[in-house]
This record gives sequence, structure tokens and C-alpha cells, in this order.
Amino acid sequence: MAKAAPAFVCQSCGATSSKWAGRCEACGEWNTIVEEKPLSQGPAGKSLGTVRGKSIPLSDLSSREAPPPRTACGLDELDRVLGGGLVPASAVLVGGDPGIGKSTLLLQAAAAFANAGLSVVYISGEEASAQVRLRAQRLGLADAQVKLATETNLRDILTTLDEARPDLAIVDSVQTMWADNVDSAPGSVSQVRAAAHELTTFAKRRGSAVVMVGHVTKDGQIAGPRVVEHMVDTVLYFEGERGHQFRILRSVKNRFGPADEIGVFEMTGAGLAEVPNPSALFLSERGAPSTGSVVFSGIEGTRPVLVEFQALVAPSPTSQPRRSVVGWDGSRLSMILAVLESRCGIPFAGLDVYLNVAGGMRVGEPAADLAVAAALLSAREDSALPAETVVFGEISLSGALRPVSQTENRLKEARKLGFSSAILPQGGKAGGTGGMQLSRMADLTGFVGDVFGA
Ligand code: TYD
Ligand code: MG
Repeated sequence: MAKAAPAFVCQSCGATSSKWAGRCEACGEWNTIVEEKPLSQGPAGKSLGTVRGKSIPLSDLSSREAPPPRTACGLDELDRVLGGGLVPASAVLVGGDPGIGKSTLLLQAAAAFANAGLSVVYISGEEASAQVRLRAQRLGLADAQVKLATETNLRDILTTLDEARPDLAIVDSVQTMWADNVDSAPGSVSQVRAAAHELTTFAKRRGSAVVMVGHVTKDGQIAGPRVVEHMVDTVLYFEGERGHQFRILRSVKNRFGPADEIGVFEMTGAGLAEVPNPSALFLSERGAPSTGSVVFSGIEGTRPVLVEFQALVAPSPTSQPRRSVVGWDGSRLSMILAVLESRCGIPFAGLDVYLNVAGGMRVGEPAADLAVAAALLSAREDSALPAETVVFGEISLSGALRPVSQTENRLKEARKLGFSSAILPQGGKAGGTGGMQLSRMADLTGFVGDVFGA
């Protein structure tokens, strides 16, 4: 067999090239390219198997071979994000910033799944057993029927797992795993990829579920990002602001359930507590109606969630006004500002614009466009929106308002939380929300005129 060519792998985006360069052509990062020995390609000299790649007609798969059903652990916020529970033989990646609470979440999950009857092994590559025990004591889980291993050598881990054959193996974290047949440092793309590959293969081979923790780099990607994400069945991100006690577990990919589902937790002195009604929580810090504050009725996965958008608009001391966004998409903000300027004649030139989603929540829906526009206008005109009003709707570049999905659910949630009126686009069923006053708008110009008299 020909000697495998060396591969140069970008440690930031995972792109490979055949020669070294100072700058990665794929992601533009400098000094991220490192030579890595390629993974072994299997035994040499064998033609690709006639036996090994056997295929079976789908209809021949008897129900005897159907996997056992999923297991719910009783932590509803986690079960929902997993799509109703943990699927056997599945590989799950949990990503998040260091210190956000991944180990805490997974230790609690380990205990909960053990209580639900699964055999669970928790492999910590980051903390010594004494530290994990200490944490378990703090969480009140010292008696949980969870087996603990502190190990970083992938071969040893696979040997342990092959013997123990647990229903669930938790690996914290994939960046600390180290495969001795791969010639680069732990945490490098090759190592992370090898670890994720081996653990995923183990899950499929033995029918155990494997949950891997992955740290996220500064710019929000799991190291060796795309490579790992497409290997596993489910990718969950654990998000939140460090200073806030709220934590959001979000499914960005799920082969066994809806993506974009969220579970909301609160970090307390005794670990993570579930938050069954996130709308109430996100609005809990809201005071009297103030300018620049607008409540948006959003949908996260299968659930409606109300969040507050806050905007501040102020004359800019510099010639380059600031556009600062937390919890929403910056380019979407530029688009809304452009539509307000050119379709409604409301200039933002010379003004600093700050936009923030309260509570550390991140909103990705275009349905929030109208709420953002309302917050910006309210801040700019120094005029508060009518009290107890929710706003939602997508804005097109022409300034027209487009109806959004699940109008009915958005309105129901708002009514449940005591909101009496809503501003929304035309179209979209709104049955079952009796008593709410609905202001249906065709376009942004009409909205500006109606609500702000401009
Ligand atoms: P950890 O789960 O270690 O984070 P990660 O594994 O994502 O790096 O959580 C670390 C933070 O959580 C730490 O700053 C302390 C805080 N914490 C609590 O507030 N309460 C608790 O009961 C625990 C265990 C941790
Ligand atoms: Mg940790």
C-alpha cells in the first residue's frame, strides 16, 4: 500500500490540505494549520468486502430486531430536548462554553437515568474521582447507582466499556480523550475526530447510548466542529450568560426528534433546577412598561416562549455609529434598520443602536423581526408600546409583513401569561384566543403609523 500522504488540518474548522500554509483557505484563520497523521484506513490489501457490506431489505427487518424503546429520565426539560428520552445505541454530543455547567448537567442526568433503570458509566477525563464524588455530594447524588471511571486513553475506555456494556456511557470530555494510534496532541482535530468516531462506533456496535461532552472554542464551535457534529445522532448546545443563572439546552441536530427544541434550567447552589415555565421566567425581571422594551411571542421547538427585546437608541459621539446585539442576529438587525430607513423614511444614521434579549436567551426566528422593529422605534421615538401587548411577524425587504407559523400557539401562550393584546401580520389562524385584542398589520409603514403615529 502506498504510504499515506501527510495531511495538514486546520485546528479551527477541520479543513484538510496537502501542504502547510500560514492561513487556512477555508475559514481564513491564521496559524491554525497543523500536520496530522491520517487515521489508519483498515487492514491493507483487502478488497472492499463482499460479505461485510451486506444489505437487507427494509421489510425484512423484523420487529425482533427493533431497538428497545427510548428511556425518559424524569428530567422533563432534558427528555424533551432529546425528543422524548434517550434512544439506545445513539451518540449524543453536548457542547458548551467551559464552566457553563455541562458536567453538572450530565452528572445529574447520569443519576436520573440510573434511577430510571439504566446502567450508567460516567467517564471523567477532566476531574479526579474524588472531585466528581465531591460534586455528586453537593448535588445530593452521592448514593446514585452510577459507575465512575477516570480515564483518558481511548483504548482503555473502550475495553472498560466493552466489558461493562452499560446502557449509557457519558464521556466528559471528548477533548481530553487520547487515542494512542493517532499522532497528535489531545484536543486536536485528529484526536477529537478519532475519539468521536470510536465512541460512536461503540454505541452502534454494542447498543449503548453514548453522551460526549465537547468544549466550544471562542467563536462558538466545538473543536473539530463539523467533523464531530455529523458523526453523532444528536447535537445539543448548553448555552447561557455566565452572569445569569439561566441555562438553555438546545438541540441543533436530532435524528430522533425535533431540532431547535429547548430545555430551560436554572443554576442553583445545589445544581441545575428545571424551569417548566420559561416564559414567566424570562419576563420576571420586566418592570413597568418602558421605552425600547417589547415582548415577543416566539416558538422554540414545539413550545411557545415569550421573551423581552430591549433596545436603546442614542446619538453617536463618533462618525461610525455602533450596532451592538446580544441574543439576536447582527445582520438581521442591519436589515431591519435598512427597511425602516428606506421603506418608512425613519433614519438611524448618526445613532448608536443596542439590542438585547433579556435573560440570556438567544432568538433565531425571523418571526421576531416585527418585535425588533417595534423595540427600535419605541426607543427612537421615546414612546412605550401599549402595556400588556405582544408582537410578532416577519418583515420582508419590501416592508410587507409576512404571517408566521403557529400564530394560534403564540397568542395562547401570551394570553396565559396575562397579555391582552397582540400586534401581528395579517393571515394565520387565531382561533381559541378569545378576549385578546388583535391588531393585524399589512406592512411596516402601517405599523409605524398606527402604533407610533409617525
Ligand atoms: P461545570 O458543570 O463544572 O461546567 P463545565 O463542565 O461546563 O465546564 O459547572 C461549573 C460552574 O457551575 C461553576 O462555576 C460552579 C457552578 N455550580 C453551581 O453554581 N452550583 C452547583 O451545584 C455546581 C455543581 C456548580
Ligand atoms: Mg466539565
